[in-house]
Amino acid sequence: MDATETGVSVGVIGLGYVGLPLAVEFAEAGHRVVGLDVDGSKVRALRAGRSYIEDISSDRLAAVSDRIHATTRYADLAQVDAVIIAVPTPLTENREPDLQPLISAGSALAGVLQQGQLVVLESTTYPGTTRDRLGPLLEESGLRAGRSFNLAFSPERIDPGRTDFTLRTTPKVVGGLTPACLQRAVDLYSTVCDEVVSVSTPEIAEMTKLLENIFRTVNIALVNELAMLCDRMQIDVWEVVRAAATKPYGFMSFSPGPGMGGHCLPVDPFYLAWKAREYDMQTEFIELAGEVNAAMPYYCADKVAKALNDEAKPVRGSRVAILGVSYKAGVGDLRESPALKIMSLLSEQGAVLSYHDSYVPELSRFGLASRPLEEVLQDADVAVIVTVHPDLDVDRIVGAAPAVVDFRGVTRARAATSGAAKQPARG
Ligand SMILES: NC(=O)c1ccc[n+]([C@@H]2O[C@H](COP(=O)([O-])OP(=O)(O)OC[C@H]3O[C@@H](n4cnc5c(N)ncnc54)[C@H](O)[C@@H]3O)[C@@H](O)[C@H]2O)c1
Repeated sequence: MDATETGVSVGVIGLGYVGLPLAVEFAEAGHRVVGLDVDGSKVRALRAGRSYIEDISSDRLAAVSDRIHATTRYADLAQVDAVIIAVPTPLTENREPDLQPLISAGSALAGVLQQGQLVVLESTTYPGTTRDRLGPLLEESGLRAGRSFNLAFSPERIDPGRTDFTLRTTPKVVGGLTPACLQRAVDLYSTVCDEVVSVSTPEIAEMTKLLENIFRTVNIALVNELAMLCDRMQIDVWEVVRAAATKPYGFMSFSPGPGMGGHCLPVDPFYLAWKAREYDMQTEFIELAGEVNAAMPYYCADKVAKALNDEAKPVRGSRVAILGVSYKAGVGDLRESPALKIMSLLSEQGAVLSYHDSYVPELSRFGLASRPLEEVLQDADVAVIVTVHPDLDVDRIVGAAPAVVDFRGVTRARAATSGAAKQPARG
């Protein structure tokens, strides 16, 4: 053990967007970390000192590589003091919670669980999962939750690509099965977070995360609906949002866009909607927000068709350049990306697609590779701005594309000076 190393070791199950930054943060705080993933390619990359997550540079990883042991073997978790679970919690095809990754991680962990270990679930899920699903799975080890091992839930608040708030500066909510479970989890997270917020049960912590995400989903749907109305009324929705945001209280600004993507917002609310049905409740805000947001890519595809129509061109055979295909700026994550839905809809209508995205080199499902911006603009009948990565040259787009459809409101300032002929269609 070197001088800065703590005595507490931490295991992290699931080394994705949530788990890898956690593992690195714990290692930086001096903990010995065992990082486990079923995906051997991730484990190999980490062993080779290569990060596959934008927020973690390979340099940062290299600085703590002697403290992180990457593995696919659950047996390696038998030696750690605390285990954090950060596996995916997706939906099934019927849009119901798919706890299979969590069940398989919990069962495998039960096989190696040790007396006195702390287990914390971080995956987003419906209230009751930690106590009623994970607890019994772990108890198959013969150990008792809250007595022979500690169990807690702590939602992850990471926002990939964000730099103004980090894991350390974002308050961390924790709920334990017992006061002792809570205390152990608080002690652990206090080594990597400046502020730890204790709540009275795991269910409160689970519901807190869902409230945060549902709040965003509903407000995004609201502003998206307003954007569609503003488009019909020829009112600039971005100017409206910016003006409303000058109110110093009682208003929080959300930007319209092409729909929601990522692993969280399009998925998590339906965990609660599903659970609510057990209590004879229809969570109507969630369903309605889901409907509005899911309709956005259809609206976007129609906007592209209209922009082509204005140029006297049909969708069939027209060359459409999609700019930005990941679901958000600054990351290459394609999960639930509305760009992919827009591309499918346009492709079904016969459009000839190309794309530029500096974070996504290939889109195998479309048989496409990202092409340089200049090249896609030169060849396009219309350029469609879907996701604005920090390096996207908006001036060049407005200058070079024959028509621009902008779903992020970034060409508005340029449109004012570039003349009506190139006026971008509103998103
Ligand atoms: N990505 C985000 O911005 C974010 C933010 C907050 C919360 N969350 C939540 O955190 C959880 C993880 O999300 P993510 O984005 O990191 O997912 P991810 O897909 O990026 O990473 C999950 C990892 O878990 C691994 N895995 C799957 N099953 C496993 C198993 N049985 N044993 C070991 N490893 C296994 C996968 O191979 C993958 O590497 C989800 O519940 C998500 O809702 C995500």
